Amino acid sequence: MDKIGSGGFKDVYVGKYQITKKTRKRVAIADIRDQLSEMDIKELTLLRDLSHENIVRFIGVCIPPPESRTTPCMIVSELCANGDLYDYIRNTSPPRDDEIFRIMLETARGLEYLHLRSPAIIHRDVKSTNVLITRNKTAKINDFGLARVRHSKRGAIKSLVGTVNWQAVELWTPKPNYDEKVDVWSAAMTFWEVLQWHQHEKKYPFQDMNEHQIYQDVGQKGLRPPTVSIRRHYGLEIVELLNRMWDQNPKERPTHDAGLRRTGGPGCHEASTKPAGVLGTQCTPKPDRDPECFPLAAEQGPT
Ligand SMILES: Nc1ncnc2c1ncn2[C@@H]1O[C@H](COP(=O)(O)OP(=O)(O)OP(=O)(O)O)[C@@H](O)[C@H]1O
Ligand SMILES: [Mg+2]
Repeated sequence: MDKIGSGGFKDVYVGKYQITKKTRKRVAIADIRDQLSEMDIKELTLLRDLSHENIVRFIGVCIPPPESRTTPCMIVSELCANGDLYDYIRNTSPPRDDEIFRIMLETARGLEYLHLRSPAIIHRDVKSTNVLITRNKTAKINDFGLARVRHSKRGAIKSLVGTVNWQAVELWTPKPNYDEKVDVWSAAMTFWEVLQWHQHEKKYPFQDMNEHQIYQDVGQKGLRPPTVSIRRHYGLEIVELLNRMWDQNPKERPTHDAGLRRTGGPGCHEASTKPAGVLGTQCTPKPDRDPECFPLAAEQGPT
């Protein structure tokens, strides 16, 4: 099998899925490096029922027989032929602005779908390597529902790019109390990456800082990624949107369901050429979250 990528706790390969006798489909097979608990597996299978054009289709889990201690557990999902957004930004020349806004809008739509489940699914690891691009260039959210598995398997091997760079500040406490607004923060960091596309050097957030500096400067001193070139290229509105999305106070961040508004603009059917239209501009009060929070998504939550 061809390996297409590797992350903090799994290796990903291209495989073939025999749907009927005559139909076969190429799929992504993620080989989890550690054993999963019964609980993890049960929770993973719940993801099968999720379906949205902006989330990666989860096909199933392949579970080792109970007596086997060596067979790996695998997660099978839809293959996205253009790989992840992190590489896509670096390997493809910058598209038109409306294409850029479409990718942002689709990312927001995928997250909105997860957040509007009952109970809500909080991704907790939104970043450019977890946004995948299909053959027809649709953006889809990947690795939703893996927060718990990832946390319990966090071993010596770390991702090349530390997740902390995209993480909301409220997660940096021993017993974090958080909601889906952590994903709004991370989406802002991901949008910021997408908006670097026209730059000669593509950066990821806080690229030149170590984890300790990030905790200090971002968590305590309110540092955020630079937006001067974004304002020059795309205007003030998009910078204001980013500023609201990565507000220190989660309550001040807009919700994805505050309205995926169209401001209308040439060349794009769905997203606006005015980026502020990608997400609503107001923070809509949400009803209290179901205390039976989706167990995979909010490990530290009220479950
Ligand atoms: N369904 C898929 N279709 C196409 N490529 C995929 C798919 N799933 C994963 N990949 C590729 O494999 C890479 C590794 O994925 P993986 O989720 O293990 O690591 P990561 O997202 O970089 O880090 P992390 O461990 O923090 O999630 C991805 O970045 C992507 O390039
Ligand atoms: Mg991933």
